[in-house]
Amino acid sequence: MRRAEVAVVGAGAAGLVAARELLREGHAVAVFEKSDRAGGTWAYDPRADADPLSLDPGAPGAVHGSLYASLRTNLPRELMGFSGFPLAGRVFAGDPRTFPGHREVLAFLDAFAEESGVAALVRLRAEVLRVRPLGQGQGEEQWAVAWRGEDGEVAEEVFDAVVVCNGRCTVPLVPKIRGIDKWRGKQMHSHNYRTPEPFRDQVRVLCTLPLISAGWKTRYSEDRLGKIELYQNVWLHAEIDRIQDDGPVQFAEGSAVSADIILYCTGYRYHFPFLDFDGLTVDDNRVGPMYKHVFPTKYAPNLSFVGLPYKTIIFQSLELESKWVAAVLSGRATLPSEEGMVAAVREEYRRMEEDGRPKRHTHSLWPEWVEYMNWLAEQVGEPQLEARRRDMYERALKCIWSLDDRYRDRWDEEEENNGGDCAPQGSICHTAFTARSST
Ligand SMILES: Cc1cc2nc3c(=O)[nH]c(=O)nc-3n(C[C@H](O)[C@H](O)[C@H](O)COP(=O)(O)OP(=O)(O)OC[C@H]3O[C@@H](n4cnc5c(N)ncnc54)[C@H](O)[C@@H]3O)c2cc1C
Ligand SMILES: *[C@@H]1O[C@H](CO)[C@@H](O)[C@H](O)[C@H]1NC(C)=O
Repeated sequence: MRRAEVAVVGAGAAGLVAARELLREGHAVAVFEKSDRAGGTWAYDPRADADPLSLDPGAPGAVHGSLYASLRTNLPRELMGFSGFPLAGRVFAGDPRTFPGHREVLAFLDAFAEESGVAALVRLRAEVLRVRPLGQGQGEEQWAVAWRGEDGEVAEEVFDAVVVCNGRCTVPLVPKIRGIDKWRGKQMHSHNYRTPEPFRDQVRVLCTLPLISAGWKTRYSEDRLGKIELYQNVWLHAEIDRIQDDGPVQFAEGSAVSADIILYCTGYRYHFPFLDFDGLTVDDNRVGPMYKHVFPTKYAPNLSFVGLPYKTIIFQSLELESKWVAAVLSGRATLPSEEGMVAAVREEYRRMEEDGRPKRHTHSLWPEWVEYMNWLAEQVGEPQLEARRRDMYERALKCIWSLDDRYRDRWDEEEENNGGDCAPQGSICHTAFTARSST
């Protein structure tokens, strides 16, 4: 069994569980975290970027976090624990709800880091600036990690392997809307949304959601468009087509509305400012070529990524990805040859194209998430996904898609009910959200 010296970039949920699994497998670990605490996304940051669209991710002081103040989890706590360290059945920050607020998750991650021994390995205020392979093509391949410490000094250290865990919910994906230069109102990405107060005197807020779709070929159903019964002030619309000459937002299905703010809830893009070398690219939000979302084919196994895939039980997936990386590095699990991985990736891309799935959804695990989780589990000798967890996640997704926020507080009473209030609204392209002024 090989014991590797491993650098982990980032101390969010992914970096923390990656470090635990690497330790368990006998590796030596250093975790680099640029902020002043571990927890990543779950460390609520009341600041927002000066540019409400955050178009320049390299802007000085760019804010990492994307949580808003009142955020509660969208998955039940049972789906947000790690093996041997559950979130369910325990209370970490005084919030026992099934769908707790963000402070509870942060306190859980803090306790996890302490108990697993990872906390002591996290170097805070240590920003990784550059990761590069040494001795390319000479068999013995190692990695140089350049990082800036608290004092501003830049140092470079050599590791056998690097696991990238820098998060995927920081750099906004802002779609280009036709005619947007004619827009006279404000624009903001949800990355910078913290509290409702600044919106109180805005007459109408238009909120655009990304395509939420159960099947890639499904279109939104026309009869679902229009006002949502549930809310005073929410309408569903198909995709924004363009901004009209005199200001209103024109939707693809024909109607138009006026608004004061466009709030983009259009998701995020992968961004690795510290990686710059051949054979690994981000193209239309596809990080590739990447074997099973974890190992870049050219640099496997010594460079890996934990946390790229989504539309799955995130924490469990982070843990399985981490176990796989740790086992491959030790030699307990093996990868195909580079040619084998390249061929597998090519086949996967071909299948996505055949299914009409856009490149930018490469790392979405829907609908093959169970298959993926079980495949990972098999690589590392873990049991298959429990049916109970699978059903719970699918039930939560239906609730999320229903756009009915109340599911969180009804969840426990409706244990048996996975239809009713949480029936999906079809596949919704965009939601027009007009908030009435309080006057
Ligand atoms: C609004 C919102 C709601 C969500 N709700 C849920 C939910 O209910 N349930 C759920 O399971 N998931 C949810 N998620 C998904 C969430 O992203 C994951 O739960 C989890 O936080 C991902 O962890 P991560 O470690 O991959 O990334 P992050 O938590 O983003 O952590 C990345 C870390 O890397 C550090 N870093 C970045 N670059 C560098 C560098 N160059 N050098 C050193 N350190 C660096 C960052 O400072 C950060 O600490 C939500 C996400 C968002 C944005
Ligand atoms: C990975 O790192 C180990 C130890 O540094 C080295 O022996 C091995 O050749 C590396 N593998 C690749 C494919 O670079």
